[in-house]
This record gives sequence, structure tokens and C-alpha cells, in this order.
Amino acid sequence: PDFGTCPRKSTVAGGGTRSRQWWPCELNLAVLRQFSEKSNPFGSDFDYASAFSKIDVTQLKKDITAVQTTSQDWWPADFGNYGPFFIRLAWHNAGTYRAIDGRGGAGQGQQRFAPLNSWPDNANLDKARRLLWPIKQKYGAALSWADLFVFAGNTAMENMGFPTYGFGFGRVDTWQSDEGIYWGGEQEMFPEALNNVVRYNGSTDFTTRADELESPLGAVSMGLIYVDPRGPNGTPDTKASALDIRETFGRMGMDDEETVALIAGGHAFGKTHGAVAGSNIGPEPNAAGIELQGLGWKNSFGTGNADDAYTSGLEVIWSRTPTKWANEFLFSLLNNNFTLTKSPDGAPQWEALDANASYPDPFIPGKFRRPTMLTSDLGLRDDPIYNNISKTFLNDFDYFTEKFGLAWYKLLHRDMGPISRYLGPEIPKQAPLIWQDPLPAPAYTTLAASDVSSLKSQILAAPGLNISNLVTTAWGSASTFRISDKRGGANGARIALQPQASFAANNPTRLAAVIKALKGVQTKFQSSGKKVSLADLIVLGGAAAIEKAAKAAGVTVTVPFTPGRVDATQDQTDVSTFAFLQPQADGFRNFGHGTASSLTEELLVDKAALLTLSPPELTVLIGGFRALSANFDGSSTGILTSRPGTLTNDFFVNLLGSYATWSVVNGTNEELFQSTNSAGKVQWTASRADLIFGSHPELRAISEVYGSSDGQSKFVTDFIAAWSKVMDLDRYDVKGHSGPY
Ligand code: HEM
Repeated sequence: PDFGTCPRKSTVAGGGTRSRQWWPCELNLAVLRQFSEKSNPFGSDFDYASAFSKIDVTQLKKDITAVQTTSQDWWPADFGNYGPFFIRLAWHNAGTYRAIDGRGGAGQGQQRFAPLNSWPDNANLDKARRLLWPIKQKYGAALSWADLFVFAGNTAMENMGFPTYGFGFGRVDTWQSDEGIYWGGEQEMFPEALNNVVRYNGSTDFTTRADELESPLGAVSMGLIYVDPRGPNGTPDTKASALDIRETFGRMGMDDEETVALIAGGHAFGKTHGAVAGSNIGPEPNAAGIELQGLGWKNSFGTGNADDAYTSGLEVIWSRTPTKWANEFLFSLLNNNFTLTKSPDGAPQWEALDANASYPDPFIPGKFRRPTMLTSDLGLRDDPIYNNISKTFLNDFDYFTEKFGLAWYKLLHRDMGPISRYLGPEIPKQAPLIWQDPLPAPAYTTLAASDVSSLKSQILAAPGLNISNLVTTAWGSASTFRISDKRGGANGARIALQPQASFAANNPTRLAAVIKALKGVQTKFQSSGKKVSLADLIVLGGAAAIEKAAKAAGVTVTVPFTPGRVDATQDQTDVSTFAFLQPQADGFRNFGHGTASSLTEELLVDKAALLTLSPPELTVLIGGFRALSANFDGSSTGILTSRPGTLTNDFFVNLLGSYATWSVVNGTNEELFQSTNSAGKVQWTASRADLIFGSHPELRAISEVYGSSDGQSKFVTDFIAAWSKVMDLDRYDVKGHSGPY
């Protein structure tokens, strides 16, 4: 069958040919509707933090330990211990995280859903999840799957002698696959996907292409978490494998030392599975028969498990003590001569042919194997930088243990956002780490109402500040937030620090002037012995500007304001990974534009998705921004009003009323359009981020609500609600733990 078409023609339940198949390029708003409360059996009031607070974590650990060390006949444990299996489960949940768009990671329990439940790289983790079901069943709502997947790995590691750095619970389950994640453009899964070089811009030379990996992807192939264990495209080139490792782990925000620590630490445990030929293996869970009940990869050879198990098709054991924390992996890596061999499935792997057989068989006591390695493992030996680090780690086990502990902690928590979201008794007591985007303690949590109103007046009266630049600054500050890894946001006022102060979308020169003026207001206020943070002033400035613009439209409103933000220092700001928060385009401020593959309006929807906006919220915000003349550069693009700075629904009225008068402005690659009046005179100009609200059927339908004769007051109310939501997106300190969305 064609890719994407089910050969069975259902006539019910959404069957049949859909609009998406007729018009596959239509802007897809589905990402703005996902994670609806309709899908959530706990309902929108569910508070995971309070549900979780009932858990006795000590007992939970005992329960996990019992499962870890009780082998089940339906999937017997290697060495009688599921610990390594659970570590792989945790790692594959967390390891999808990529720093570029913050998506992926363990935070939402996504491995329960396709595609991750059926990824080739996640083979047999369906069994690991099923082994944990009795624990999930026991704790119910009080323990999310997302937490359990990673905590099981963390506990397993402790049980096998590794001193972990700590653990934060607080991952809230989602109830469907995250459709906002771009996994790649291939139409095949690994290993077939390797023939498709779309994510490498057509390059087939894996010795040079690593850094051409398409953004924001974090893996070398559709269906893999990171790299091909056999070496790039199945070629056992250890140095080229290291290049892939560096690029992909780098995209997770891991440096060389963290990368070696993670791989050498992880592969200190367990073994790989490829005892039989891959032709014995049935379909993955999402393609398997209904009678398999969500399990897949049924192995029809022999017992189908234990010594006949097939997972990766590689048959390797790294350690003489695979269920005990020791420096065995690096010992084997750096003390053996490995020769290229083949697994029983015919895949390239490496064996120390001249070494003693002292590596235990997982099921037959007294039977031993020779040391073996994956091509990717040998990358840690053959890349000169990795080699140095590997040697250091081998020579200093304590140092290695410390570095692996930190890297493992980072791996599991990287997408959780502010440390105030962490729950449970095992949160490290040490100062937050730089990747946790530390913030100072608040100097105040409330401001007197009279202070708030006097600050607003002072801001509006300050020279150089106006509606447009106050709104763009507040937006620039708050809208860096991304729900994917919960980084960014207005708290911290990092917009005044590098790299955000230099983001082109922030119009650095104008931004610097606004910050200076706001600091003037701050200094004056503080000279009276009171305290207000710059972060709060930036948000308050936006509120003051909107209230003023509403007043000009004849409406008196108060924009909600939640004080208590703090100001981070440059030292508390991880410049290199904050750089990923730089928008390529921000249709709200009419900044930038798309590419041939990702159109401007798609980038707008993607940004809206990261801000958790619904289609109506997106629409009303755009209308408001245009009314407030809030383009990043002060231009008139899309400002479809004759009274900018007045909070009216003019944008919608004028957009919907301009019948077929738009045309592309020459030389702008369909990025800029103009509208002429009846006399043939240019009346308005607009971007794709503007015109999409008249052309897309659903966005037009919403725009009609706001552009109707009764739309003005609803427009003002909805705009302020959506605005305030964005301003407070990162306020986990105030709203408590809150859900994933
Ligand atoms: C197992 C590849 C990094 C932990 C495996 C397997 C492969 C693999 C092919 C065998 C799966 C099977 O057949 O059962 C890789 C590659 C990596 C990588 C290519 C990166 C370059 C990591 C990291 C960790 C980790 C970072 C954890 C920190 C484990 C563990 C197992 C395992 C514990 C053993 C599972 C078991 O005994 O059932 N890995 N891995 N790996 N991996 Fe990795």
C-alpha cells in the first residue's frame, strides 16, 4: 500500500479519504488541539502533586526492587535481574529529548504511545513496561507512568550499587502521542530509513556529514534514539560512529565528558540481545494482532526469550559483573583487542578473540563468553577526545562515578523545567545546576495594589516607552517559554541578558532602550525602600500598555498581573543552550519567515503549540498584536487599522472585508502581500502570518467571530486572557505543579 494509507476501507469512525489526503499541504492545527481534557481520564482538575504526595517512596522502592529481582517465566530476566533492562527503559524514555526545540524526553510518558511504543530501537521495552504494570496498578493516579519509567531505572541502578545524584518526581502523563514532534521525513523505519538521506541533506558520506543532520532532529535515523550501534548505516567504522555520537548527544545538550560518562556508565550494566536470526521476529506492537494486547516483536524461535532473545540483533556483553556497578565496561574497552565479527543475526560487532571467556552467560551458570563490544562502544576508544576521557574514567573510578551520576540526573530531568516542579523526598539538596536555569530566591511575592498602579503610571510616563515597545518587550520576555522542556519565560528577566538580549526578534537596539527606561523606573521605586524586579516590570509594562490601548478604544480593563518574578544573573544563564530559544520566526511580532519546507504560518503554529495556545487564543493574540502595532521592527505590516495603539478588532474587520484585493509584493518570495483599494492604491501590507487568518478555513471561522459587529468586547476579553496566560506560563512557583499542558 501507499505510505500512509490503510488498505482496509473503513466506512465508520473517521474512515474514508480525508481532507488531509486531498490537501496534504493544508496548515495543520491539530497540534493546537492535542492533550485536550477530553482525552484525560483524570479530568482537568487533577493535581498530580497532591495525588503523588500520598506515596511512600521507600515502599515504592521496595516494590520496584521486588519486581526487578523476580524473574517472570513469560520474559525471564538475564542474570535473574531486570535492572539493566529498566535502565534501558529509562534511558530510551529520556533519550528522545533534543535541546533544539526541547521536545522529546521522559516527561510525558510518551513511550506508551506510537510511534515510540513501536520504534525499532525500543524493541522489547513493551515487556519492560508490562513488568512494571503491577506497580503502576498498585499506585494508580498517585504515580504517573512517566515517573515510573525513569524511577524504575534509577532505583535499579541504586540496587546494583550505583550512588545516584538524586531524583525528582513530577512528570505528568499525557494521553496521546505528541503530534508536535518532528521525527523526520523518512517513510521507512530503521534500518530501511538509513537509505533515505533526507535528514542529511542528501549527503551519503557518513565520515563528514554528522553536522548536516536536519534540525531539530536528535537521532541519525527514523526509529532510533541516537545512533546506529553497528556504526553509521551498519558500517563498522568506529571513528565515524563517534562523530554521530558527538552530534546527537550534543543535541541533547551533553558535552563530550557527559557523553562518555553516559555510554560507559549505561553499558556497565546488562547485555544486548541477538541470539537468533531477525527473521523470527513478528511485527512491532502497533502492527501486531489484537490478541497480542499491545505487545509486539513476538519471537517464534525456540522459547522466544531468555537465551533465544532477540532485541537489537546484536549479541554483546560488556562486563564480568553486569548487574553490579563497576568499571568493567571501560576495563574491557581499553584492555582488549577487538576483532570485527558478526552476531548470529549477521550484524557487525566486535569480539576479543584472544581473551579468556570470563563474561557470564545470562542463564547458564558456569558458562562464559569472551568480551564483546558494539561499533558505537569502540567509538569511545577510537575517537581521540573520547579516548582521553575514557582513560581518565578508567583510572579514576570515583571521578567517573561522580560524572556519570550528574549526567544521568541531567538526562532524566532535562525536560522538566524549573526545579519547583520536582516532587518527592530525593530532590538533591545541592544548589541547582546550570542546566536547571537557576533563579534567585524571590525578594517579595506581592506588591501593594497602590504600588502596582503607580508603577504602571510611571512606566507609561517614562520617556521612550510606548504601547508598541512595551508590548513587544513583554512578549519577547514571556514567549521564549516552551512547554516542551518548560524552559524560557518571563521569570528571570533573561531577556536583558545574553543571548536573548541579542535575539534579532527582540530588536536589540530598541530592546536595550526599553530595558534602560524600565530600570530607571525600578531605581526610582527602589529608592523608596521598596522592591520590584525587572522581570515584573517588563510584564507590568505590557499590562499597562494594553490597558492604555483598551482605554483608547473606550474600554476600561485591568490586565491581570501576578507579581513575584525574580531577576537572574548572567552567571545563572546557560548561554549556549538558551541560544536554542531564539525564534527563527515569530509571526506574533511579524518577525522572520519560513523556509521552503516550513512555511511562516507553520512556524507560527509551532510557536503557538509551544506556548500551549488553542486556535482561538492564537487568533485573538494576532488580532491584538496588530491593533497594538506590536511588530518587532515597528513596521506597518499587517497593521490593518487606521488607529494603531487602540485595542480594536480592526484587524479582523479589515482582513475579512478585503475581497480578493491582495497580491504578492514582487521579489518577496510570497512573504509580503499588499492590498489595493478601489482606486488601485496600496492600502495595506501583510505577511503570511497575517493573511493565513483569512485563508485557512478554521482560522477564518474564528476570525469571523472577532470581526463581527458583536465581536469587539469578546475580542478584548479574550485577548487579555490569552495574553495573561502567556505571561504566566512559567510561573510554576505560583500555580504549583500543574499538568504537562
Ligand atoms: C543496551 C546501544 C547508550 C544503557 C543496548 C543495546 C544496544 C545499545 C544496541 C542492546 C539492546 C538489546 O539488544 O537488548 C546503545 C547506543 C548508545 C547507547 C548505540 C549510544 C551511542 C546508552 C546509554 C545508556 C545505555 C546512554 C544509559 C545511560 C543500556 C543498558 C543496556 C543497553 C543498561 C542493557 C539492557 C539489557 O541488559 O537488557 N544499548 N546504547 N545505553 N543500553 Fe545502550
